[in-house]
Amino acid sequence: MGAPSKCFVAKLACNRREDRTKVAVLQELAHGQRVDFHDIFPWEGQVCKDKHVVVYVALEAAALEPTPVITVDWLERNQPLLCGWLNVRVSSVSESEGVNSGQKIAFISDVTTRAAKDVTYRGVGSALIHALEQDAMLNLDIDFIYLFPLSNVVGFYRKLGYVQVSPHIPHMFKVLNTRTSSNPTPAFIADLEQRYAQTVNETPVDMLDHFEDDVPRSTMRALRKIVKADPEVIYELVALLQEGDEDALDEWLDGHQRHQGHQGHQRHQQKST
Ligand SMILES: CC(C)(COP(=O)(O)OP(=O)(O)OC[C@H]1O[C@@H](n2cnc3c(N)ncnc32)[C@H](O)[C@@H]1OP(=O)(O)O)[C@@H](O)C(=O)NCCC(=O)NCCS
Repeated sequence: MGAPSKCFVAKLACNRREDRTKVAVLQELAHGQRVDFHDIFPWEGQVCKDKHVVVYVALEAAALEPTPVITVDWLERNQPLLCGWLNVRVSSVSESEGVNSGQKIAFISDVTTRAAKDVTYRGVGSALIHALEQDAMLNLDIDFIYLFPLSNVVGFYRKLGYVQVSPHIPHMFKVLNTRTSSNPTPAFIADLEQRYAQTVNETPVDMLDHFEDDVPRSTMRALRKIVKADPEVIYELVALLQEGDEDALDEWLDGHQRHQGHQGHQRHQQKST
């Protein structure tokens, strides 16, 4: 493990206006380096729309340079290579789970590192988690961190000390304070289990409900119609909705409406012949 040889980690908090500008610059930079990552692209979509999000980015710095202070100017001048990206949402239990335990918690929503794991980029994933944990203990006063791991990365989190929240759900957590009150409470766990059970039983059309506030009602009606006719499209559609690119969504919608219109027309012709 250990720190990566050429990458350093910077923190940007979405509740700070100047950090939001830096995140926007980093999103542009990351977009151009998309091919170097696979599966997960945490910079896509409106990262700082939710002000509770904190971003930890691992950037490459020239050897021997002291760890730079990230400014918009520095980012634009250096166009640094992105080594990894982690988004976490900091909240209090009373706010997010309707249970007032007064705990402060952090949910890792996405983490990704460059696909090439040579000497330069080895250890970036653990460096990002380590930076978050240090900050969570020293500055943010977080009780525990939790996350929903993809099945193929459970081993990575286990190595870093994360354990399963309960046998009924895949979520994992790590307590940062040794105070007994820092553990997830039974009410928190029950709430997580209940919400997980709901998502497991969701139909593809139900999955669209999560995006109800993000698109106009007429668009949502059109999307529901398409998904009802062809449930398989839900996965690409969810990815598109998460990215939050309105033009791309309109294009997708046009293409599918034309396709379904064409199929409907063919069916009509077959019936009438
Ligand atoms: C998962 C991911 C973030 C790990 O980052 P990384 O930089 O490769 O991890 P590190 O090099 O810091 O690895 C730390 C340790 O975990 C191990 N490890 C890394 N990925 C692992 C995995 N998928 N399963 C089991 N162990 C893993 C490493 O071998 C290393 O072990 P060691 O300390 O014994 O040498 C990275 O592989 C990635 O971006 N994957 C694609 C996106 C993704 O799946 N994100 C997670 C979504 S929940």
